[in-house]
Amino acid sequence: DYLGDKDLTQETRDLISSLPSEKGWLVSQMYQYQGRWQTQALLQGTLKCQKHFEAKDSDIILVTNPKSGTTWLKALVFALINRHKFPVSSSSSGNHPLLVTNPHLLVPFLEGVYYESPDFDFSELPSPRLMNTHISHFSLPESVKSSSCKIVYCCRNPKDMFVSLWHFGKKLAPEETADYPLERAVEAFCEGKFIGGPFWDHVLEYWHASRENPSKVLFVTYEDLKKQTGDEIKRIAEFLGCGFIGDEEVSEIVKLCSFESLSGLKVNREGKLPNGMETKAFFRKGETGGWSDTLTDSLAEEIDRTMEEKFRGSGLKF
Ligand code: A3P
Repeated sequence: DYLGDKDLTQETRDLISSLPSEKGWLVSQMYQYQGRWQTQALLQGTLKCQKHFEAKDSDIILVTNPKSGTTWLKALVFALINRHKFPVSSSSSGNHPLLVTNPHLLVPFLEGVYYESPDFDFSELPSPRLMNTHISHFSLPESVKSSSCKIVYCCRNPKDMFVSLWHFGKKLAPEETADYPLERAVEAFCEGKFIGGPFWDHVLEYWHASRENPSKVLFVTYEDLKKQTGDEIKRIAEFLGCGFIGDEEVSEIVKLCSFESLSGLKVNREGKLPNGMETKAFFRKGETGGWSDTLTDSLAEEIDRTMEEKFRGSGLKF
């Protein structure tokens, strides 16, 4: 699993010994590499990805912070780009891959695969290759930046993302999180000292990249996906140059990938990923604004204050 420290290479161990490290919320030890806090496992995956991944111009890379809608975005874009190969209307008859396979198994997670299966051959993936990552814009493999591959970035309201991570952490690492006070987790989140943090820099880097190079990086939000899923699918389709897509087909994709539909499937209720993670952990509530059942007003204000400070002048708002 990504929290562990098994199968580390000597190269990773050497690097790790030179990095700033801290005990953290969610993991006992985390390491700061190129500004971002990581587990040892995902750090190794990131290093390998930076070194070995060769992007192609036709690649599509989905980027998120954890708990920001990764699973949903994977399902939506998979259904969209494969709609001729796997007609979505056939989903009603049970033939669509998303009905029998968890989205994480249909769209490889770059740094996860580089850690768990270093021999995985990305060149074998059907074209256009669809992959995802949590790697920051700064740390992307050089070829991703220099090629014409497309990046779809999905961001989520920080309060909802935090709360989603809080509950996910309890399932994923019950021993590490059992006695961790919510107040300290909020503090760690605001300061950026948690696995995957800082949230703020990650979002801002991709936000600026999308403004500087709108044909390379498309910025979408979980909130917009929720409010107007169909319109956002069309925007993604246009960005990816997917050709014409009819309203009926869009509605079929919306329905197939909805929280209600995916979370009810056996494969997502009872399945496991090869690393042992239960697929149901990726489906909790699937709502916007759900943070209010976990955060007190003062903790919510702490996140809001930090957000205002960090995003000031950027044009980015939630
Ligand atoms: P909640 O914990 O707020 O319910 P990620 O996929 O990046 O790990 O994010 C997980 C979050 O996305 C969880 O949020 C989960 O419930 C939500 N989610 C998963 N599938 C979804 C879908 N099809 N539609 C909307 N939200 C979804």
